[in-house]
Amino acid sequence: MLNRFFSERDKQNLNWFWNSYIRSRAKWLLLVFFLIIFQGFVYQQFLVLTESGLRVIFANGTFRELIWVCLAILIIFSVRAFTSFVIPTISAKLSTSALFELRHDLTQHILRLPQSYFDKKSSGDLILRLVNQVQELSTFVGQTTVKAMRDTATVVIVSGYLVYKNILLFSIALVVIPLIALLMIAVVRRVRKIQALAETAIGKFIANIDEMKTGMRTTKMTAQEEAEAQRISGSANLIRAYTYKLMRTHALTPPVIDLSSAFVYMLVVGGGGYMALSDQFDMDGASIIAFLIGLVIVFDPARNVAQFFTQLQSSLILLESVHSIFDVEAEQLNSGPSYNDNSKPVAIKLENVNFNYTSNSATLKNITMDFEPGTKNAIVGSTGSGKTTILSLIGRLYELGSGTIKFNGDDISKLSISSVRDQITIVSQDIVIFDQSLEDNIRYADPLATREMIIEAAKKAKIDKLLLERKESPVGPNGSQLSGGQKQRIALARAFLKPASILLLDEATSALDSVTEASVARSLNKLGENTTTIVVAHKLSSIEDADTIFVLDDGNLVEFGTHSELLKKKKHYAAMVNAQNKKSQ
Ligand SMILES: Nc1ncnc2c1ncn2[C@@H]1O[C@H](COP(=O)(O)OP(=O)(O)OP(=O)(O)O)[C@@H](O)[C@H]1O
Ligand SMILES: [Mg+2]
Repeated sequence: MLNRFFSERDKQNLNWFWNSYIRSRAKWLLLVFFLIIFQGFVYQQFLVLTESGLRVIFANGTFRELIWVCLAILIIFSVRAFTSFVIPTISAKLSTSALFELRHDLTQHILRLPQSYFDKKSSGDLILRLVNQVQELSTFVGQTTVKAMRDTATVVIVSGYLVYKNILLFSIALVVIPLIALLMIAVVRRVRKIQALAETAIGKFIANIDEMKTGMRTTKMTAQEEAEAQRISGSANLIRAYTYKLMRTHALTPPVIDLSSAFVYMLVVGGGGYMALSDQFDMDGASIIAFLIGLVIVFDPARNVAQFFTQLQSSLILLESVHSIFDVEAEQLNSGPSYNDNSKPVAIKLENVNFNYTSNSATLKNITMDFEPGTKNAIVGSTGSGKTTILSLIGRLYELGSGTIKFNGDDISKLSISSVRDQITIVSQDIVIFDQSLEDNIRYADPLATREMIIEAAKKAKIDKLLLERKESPVGPNGSQLSGGQKQRIALARAFLKPASILLLDEATSALDSVTEASVARSLNKLGENTTTIVVAHKLSSIEDADTIFVLDDGNLVEFGTHSELLKKKKHYAAMVNAQNKKSQ
C-alpha cells in the first residue's frame, strides 16, 4: 500500500531531505510534536467536559456545576490558542532556516557544475527550482506538514477516545475507509502526472520571460511584439490548463469524504439511537451526542489528512526536481596537485586534441598546437571553426574527447581546476556585466583591488573617463545602459586589473573604434614577457605582428606560421587576407 504512494526514489529524496535539513533541528520538531499531541488532548478533554455538561443539563444538576464545566472549557481552549501561536512560530523558524540552508547548498553546487550543464539548461529552469520550488517546499514543510501532524494527532486521540467509549459504534464508522483509500490511490497517480507537467510549463514560462527581456531591442526594432506576446501567452496557457487540471483533481477528495461522513453520521445516528433506545446497551442520550460531536471533530481533520496525501505527492515531485540537481556531478575545483610554476611564462601545448560538444558532431579534429612561452599567438578561421572552443578547453571548461593539453609539460587534466584557471585572464566574446557601478564591475576581477588600481586598469582600457562620469550609478541589468564598445572596455579593464600568465582574448577589441583599438593594443602588448597571449580575431590586420598564427577550418588546423610565412604559402590565410583587403578597398 505504501509503495503506491512512495516510489523508491521518493524514499531516497525524503531521506536526503530529512538527514540534510531537518534532522539537526529534530529537537525543535520534537517540541512541535509534543505541543501538537497536547492540542489533540484538548479536544478529547472538550468531549469529556461536554458530556458532563450535557449530563448536568439532562439530569437537572446545579447551575454551579454547569459554570465549572464552562470555565474548564474556556481554560483548555485558551491553552490551545496559546499553542496555536507557538507551533506555527517554531515551525516557521524551522522551515525557513532549513530552506535557507537548502538554497545555500543549491547555489554552491550549481556554481560548481560543469559548463556543459549550463549549455543545456535555461535560466527559467534554474529560477524555477531555486525560487519557486524551494519556496513551495518551505510552505509544505512549515505549514502543510505541521497542520497535517496536528490533524493526525486530533484524529488519533479523539478516535481513540471514541473507541474507548463505544467500539461497536466506532467500527460502523470505519466502513467508509476502503472507499476513501481507493479514491486516494487514483488521485495520487493523477496528481503526480499533472504536477510534473505543470512544473515544466512554469519553467518554460520563466525562460520565455527571460528571453523577452533579453531580446526586447530586437523585438521592438522588428515590430515582433504580437508574435512575442503569443509565444509567451502560449506557455502561460499551458500553466493555466495544468493548474486547472491539478486543482480539479485535488478537488475530488473533499466531496467523497463529505459524502462518506454523511453516510457515517447516518449510521451512527441510527445505530447510536437504537443503542440508546434499547436496554441492552449502556448508552444514554448524552453519550450519543458526545460521540457524534467527537465524529464531527474527527472528520474535518481526517479530510485534511487525506488531502495532505495528495499535496504530499505534488511536493514529492518538487523534491525530486530540486534533489536531482545534486545528482549532476560538480567540478572538483581543488582536487589534484596545483599548478604553481608561477615564476616563468607558460608554454601551452595541445597534442592530438579531439573534442565534441554532442555525440553527433566533431568540433575539433586532432589538433596539435604549440604556444611558446611569453609569445603572442593568434587563432583565425571562419565562424564556427572552433576558435572559442580551443580557449574554453585551455580553461578546462569541458573535458577533452582525447589528447592532452599541457602547461609547461604538466597535463592540465591532472592538475586542480582552480590552479589551471588561476593562470588565465580571459576577455571573452560574451561579456558579463552586472547592474552595479562601473568601478564595481571592474573590481569583479579582483575584489581586493584598491580604487587606484582600478583607475589605472580603466586608463589602459580607455574607460577611465566614463568611470569618472558615471560615478556610483549602476549600469543597468546586463549593462543595458552601456554601448557594446564600453562593455568590451570593462572586460579589458578587468584583464588589466588582474593579469595572469596566460591572456586569452576572444574578439576582445572587435567593438572598438580604430584609434581606441590601437591604444588598447599597445597596453595589451605591454602586459609583459611573462604572458603567453592567444588572440582570436576576425580582423586580420590586428594580429599581423603575432609570433605564430594558427588557421582553423571546420575544426581542423590547416596551417600555421608568421604573417609573412603564411602569405607566401598563398593558401587559406593568404586568401582570407586578400578577401579582407578587397573589402576594405
Ligand atoms: N555549447 C555548445 N554546444 C554545442 N555546440 C557548440 C557549443 N558551442 C559551440 N558549438 C559549436 O561548435 C562549433 C565551434 O564553435 P566555436 O564557438 O568554437 O566557434 P568560433 O570559431 O569561436 O566561431 P566564431 O568566430 O563565430 O566565434 C560551432 O559549430 C558551434 O555551433
Ligand atoms: Mg568564437
